[in-house]
Amino acid sequence: MRKRIVAGNWKMNKTFIEAESLLFDIADLLSESRPKDVEVVVCPPALYLELTSDIAQQNDFKSGAQNISHHAQGAYTGELSAEMVKSAGVKYVILGHSERRLYFGETDEVIAQKIDKALKHDMTPIYCCGEVLEEREEERHFQVVSDQINKAVCHLADHEVRDIVIAYEPVWAIGTGKTASPDQAQEMHAYIRSIISAHYGSETGDAISILYGGSCNPGNAAELFQQPDVDGGLIGGASLKAEDFVKIVNSFKK
Ligand code: PGA
Repeated sequence: MRKRIVAGNWKMNKTFIEAESLLFDIADLLSESRPKDVEVVVCPPALYLELTSDIAQQNDFKSGAQNISHHAQGAYTGELSAEMVKSAGVKYVILGHSERRLYFGETDEVIAQKIDKALKHDMTPIYCCGEVLEEREEERHFQVVSDQINKAVCHLADHEVRDIVIAYEPVWAIGTGKTASPDQAQEMHAYIRSIISAHYGSETGDAISILYGGSCNPGNAAELFQQPDVDGGLIGGASLKAEDFVKIVNSFKK
């Protein structure tokens, strides 16, 4: 069976003290109740990765980074390499988030190199794709997502592609309170799976976890997660409150 995953993307939020207390609150609530076989991932700002990995290890969840450099090492002031991030006990890394594309000019060519670096250092990339509002209104959303996946993912070998997670995040739904409907999410997730199946065969397509992201909250998660091709969520705003985040984890059928 495909892995079911709920990952929290804290973005650029929380001081050290706040981060520590949020991590302990998440750990406490998860210890009270969580469905079996759901992988929980917390992606804090890079400064708190080591702390997160330590607490995660003792509490059966995983730590994830929000980004890594596409360079291996050297004179790249301010950057963090995959190897460095891995050495902080990190298991997952979000790559190609729409905010990285929009504000930091990341292209799928650069994101493809980051995916390679993450895999080389045994971290699972969570590759984000998704259309902006205008593209959906012009009914170009399938083409846009297909281009993104072709450029960033389809160079991988079969055994590598099985080690990635894809997150469909329609940009018009991120931080806006406007969620994709369960039907819209299911339609795109099935399409993404069909692209992977066309390149790598249906066994590989079936094995890949595809997460939904964009204003997912405790009120809408259950219906989204019930869709056959939705294997979990990438959660922004609602991951900053332990109760909401753990409620989303518990939205999976037990
Ligand atoms: P949101 O963000 O849940 O706040 O919409 C999701 C994301 O950006 O990953």
